[in-house]
Amino acid sequence: MQYRIEAFDVVVVGAGGAGLRAAIEASARGKRTAIICKSLLGKAHTVMAEGGVAAALRNVDERDNWQVHFRDTMRGGKFLNNWRMAQLHAQEAPERVRELERWGAVFDRTKDGWINQRNFGGHAYPRLAHVGDRTGLEIIRTLQDKGVHGGIAVFMEHTVVKLFKSEGRICGALCYERETGRFLLFKCKAIVLATGGVGRCYKVTSNSWEYTGDGQALGYEAGADLMDMEFTQFHPTAMVWPPSVKGILVTEGVRGEGGILRNSKGERFMFKYISPLFAKETADTEEEAKRWLEGDKAARRPPELLTRDEVARAIRNEVKQGRGTKHGGVFLDISWRDPAFVKAKLPSMYHQFKELAGVDITKEPMEVGPTMHYHMGGLRVDAESAMTTVPGLFAAGEVAAGLHGANRLGGNSLSDLLVFGKRAGEFAATWAERHEAREPDAAEVGAALQGAMAPLEREQGENPFALQAELQQVMQDLVGMIRERGELGQAVERIQELKKRAQQCAAPGNRMYNAGWHTALDIQHLLVSAEAITRSALLREESRGAHTRDDFPQTDKEKWSKVNVLCRPGADGAMSVTTEPLPAWPDDARKLIEGTLEAVTTKEAA
Ligand code: FUM
Repeated sequence: MQYRIEAFDVVVVGAGGAGLRAAIEASARGKRTAIICKSLLGKAHTVMAEGGVAAALRNVDERDNWQVHFRDTMRGGKFLNNWRMAQLHAQEAPERVRELERWGAVFDRTKDGWINQRNFGGHAYPRLAHVGDRTGLEIIRTLQDKGVHGGIAVFMEHTVVKLFKSEGRICGALCYERETGRFLLFKCKAIVLATGGVGRCYKVTSNSWEYTGDGQALGYEAGADLMDMEFTQFHPTAMVWPPSVKGILVTEGVRGEGGILRNSKGERFMFKYISPLFAKETADTEEEAKRWLEGDKAARRPPELLTRDEVARAIRNEVKQGRGTKHGGVFLDISWRDPAFVKAKLPSMYHQFKELAGVDITKEPMEVGPTMHYHMGGLRVDAESAMTTVPGLFAAGEVAAGLHGANRLGGNSLSDLLVFGKRAGEFAATWAERHEAREPDAAEVGAALQGAMAPLEREQGENPFALQAELQQVMQDLVGMIRERGELGQAVERIQELKKRAQQCAAPGNRMYNAGWHTALDIQHLLVSAEAITRSALLREESRGAHTRDDFPQTDKEKWSKVNVLCRPGADGAMSVTTEPLPAWPDDARKLIEGTLEAVTTKEAA
């Protein structure tokens, strides 16, 4: 069987924000850099981070600084975050945003001409630098221009099926061109995985077809640890009607600009979900906590801007209690604001609802409900270098775990991919500088090719599309927002059965334009993440952030506060799930998190 050979120093898999930022950095450091992406360049889930990029620029509220951003991120992540990643992220995000501006990103401005920032859930101050409700799109456009002009080689519409190691370190990747089915073997010194999330494990998701957990599976199969896979983020607001658009994102920017959530009885229900303990732990001041608990509609931070896990659970509960809309959502209303303001600040939302649902959001409320949006779990990485537990294999953006802990704050995904995309590119380049290229083993390459071709050669077998739909239903029904031992156990069994059946997928016919073949291969990747999510969710016997166990409703202050859950291949090839202690917090970080260390003055922070 024939394949073409390509040779580079650094190969980046994935061309969303993290992949592009990594490739720009590796290439700027003189390394021959390729970027391989499953879709067309620029089509990435990054564009679904619509409402803004979080960075303590202090353009709208001078009290902000990196320490407050660090504290908010740790609190939002329910303290399971890797503290060092959270620190680097908060410290470096402002410079990464200013750099984007120098590269041509056109942000919305304050009256004084600074980059404008808006409120988002869990951020103490207006912190999200934005471009209306198209921030991710503007970031991708900017990075794409910069990258292409920097001389990165781009391989669009290519899917990676296997990574190769030699003497324990990364040396290559096998992929195929989706249009023709032709194979390519990339030989390289370092690989950066930046393939995004696993949304397509679920039936209702904001993720498009590409997000099948490719990086998670490729890394895992190469021996890298998966970490905290149980933490799947259900964004509270997506479209619920008509059925063809169910799951499409409604940006948190709507609530950031004053959008109000109401149930079918017209009640502004979010106030009910603020407990005295929650108010005490979350509000900045006693005064703010009091105003929340009294249902004060003019409170500085409205209850609609609690963290995503809280808002999503509240919406689910309203619907379950019979106070939902007729299509199973709640109402989100921004129509009380001036129509010109709505159209200027939320132009995509205005068009999305007008064209897809026939709703004019300047005049009537939207119907919204939760959607699987983001995965906090992923490949375990070193905080400084973004290297996984496999030498020469790096990971950045959503595919990597650690920064967001048990729940990500909105807008922290864009700053994550800028900060750690750059770091991954930088350290991958350094790695490539210091290591010689090695040859992938020819027998391993041959076996990977045969495995990839198998569905094409089967005349009869499982229908890959039907199998994918079954998996999505299992995950939606049994491993959704609210979990419980019996259902998780059933899901593990169903996934085992689906794994066997996935080995029998048939996609006979030509390799060209064979969507059934692509899906048969995607399922193999999806199943790795589905199994890891389910097994990790079963192990973590507590509720924390985005992981809610009906049978363990409390957040455990002892054992589960102190450990990450890890998945790795066991000796028998089966997935092993274990726990490992979190890295210890140094004293200063602890004081910042607990709020006993005053944030430095504005001048020092600058
Ligand atoms: O709601 C949003 O605009 C999404 C942002 C994010 O996921 O960071």
